[in-house]
Amino acid sequence: MMRAWEIISEGGIAALALNQRADPEPGPGQVLVKVGASAINYRDLVTLKDPKSRGIVYPLVPNSDCAGTVVSVGGDVSNLTVGDRVIGCFFQDWTDGPISPVAMASALGGAIDGVLAEKVVLNAAAVVAVPDNLTLDEASTLPCAGLTAWHALTEAQPVKPGDRVLLLGTGGVSVFAQQFCSALGVETIVTSSSDEKLAKMRTLGAQETINYTKVPAWEEKVLALTNGVGVDRVVEVGGPGTLQKSLAAVRVGGAVQLIGILTGASGTIVPTDIMRKSISLRGIYVGSCTQFEAMAAFISDHKIQPVIDSIFAFEDAPSAYQKMQNATHLGKLVIHF
Ligand SMILES: NC(=O)c1ccc[n+]([C@@H]2O[C@H](COP(=O)([O-])OP(=O)(O)OC[C@H]3O[C@@H](n4cnc5c(N)ncnc54)[C@H](OP(=O)(O)O)[C@@H]3O)[C@@H](O)[C@H]2O)c1
Repeated sequence: MMRAWEIISEGGIAALALNQRADPEPGPGQVLVKVGASAINYRDLVTLKDPKSRGIVYPLVPNSDCAGTVVSVGGDVSNLTVGDRVIGCFFQDWTDGPISPVAMASALGGAIDGVLAEKVVLNAAAVVAVPDNLTLDEASTLPCAGLTAWHALTEAQPVKPGDRVLLLGTGGVSVFAQQFCSALGVETIVTSSSDEKLAKMRTLGAQETINYTKVPAWEEKVLALTNGVGVDRVVEVGGPGTLQKSLAAVRVGGAVQLIGILTGASGTIVPTDIMRKSISLRGIYVGSCTQFEAMAAFISDHKIQPVIDSIFAFEDAPSAYQKMQNATHLGKLVIHF
């Protein structure tokens, strides 16, 4: 038997239950992974708080992100052996190419059971080797926030040295985006509600920072900082409360990568602004295993260490979601097994 955290009902963080489950067995093309760490994402918090609107079937093991060690291998697996350090891909059925409904139906901790369990079965084609420079705690932060930031910067007119990118807030996605931009020679303007967090983002390489609480018209400040031109790209994690301002802050012909819903799920935008400025507005849903492989190689080559704010014990997992809800963190929150 093994232990697994389960969403067993509505009721938010308080309704998480630590239960016993039978040890899973890897089938053909699968591996059994002893989980060493699981990082949490805003999406996991939203799933806990509102499982009904997401159509969650109880009991569901939460979380998409884990890193661990292969402890047994199913039939027809030639690429992995016992002892390998691996990271699970967010989508267990998205190897390459564009996203599909099939891929979306394989999202860990949403469409299917997630990874906040002592052992998990993963598809051998949907795990990536842990970069040599990372611990399992660090590696566990990559599948969702890391890959989403990578996807937002490297696909559909990839950023190039000298570009200017706007990052909103200092959560997991934005901090990874900052680290990738720094390594790619891309300049950033970062917003945050905290001057202290902005100072930390400068140490990670941010060229310009804006406190969006003190400067509510931050889009005007972005334009001023770019001589009225606007940024080349926005990594848009705010959603309805920030999108209209992001459209104002991006240059003519620039790109807004639509990722998040930190300010809610619905709102009003002005479509003509998108049309008149010829803005490429692109929805992003994490990324494929092939994109993950490219990101892992980049992280290894550039010796990037993910920024972990706090680490929680497996038995204390609910505290990690509480911390995320308080939004005092910068970077990632990790549950260590
Ligand atoms: N589409 C996808 O594939 C995908 C993948 C990953 C994440 N997401 C989404 O992206 C968003 C960010 O995820 P995350 O895991 O990075 O979240 P997170 O770590 O919880 O980020 C929280 C931070 O967001 C910032 N924030 C909140 N409201 C803001 C606002 N109005 N303007 C600017 N910043 C604001 C705050 O930064 P400060 O404290 O600095 O103010 C807060 O600390 C979430 O909506 C998540 O669901 C989507």
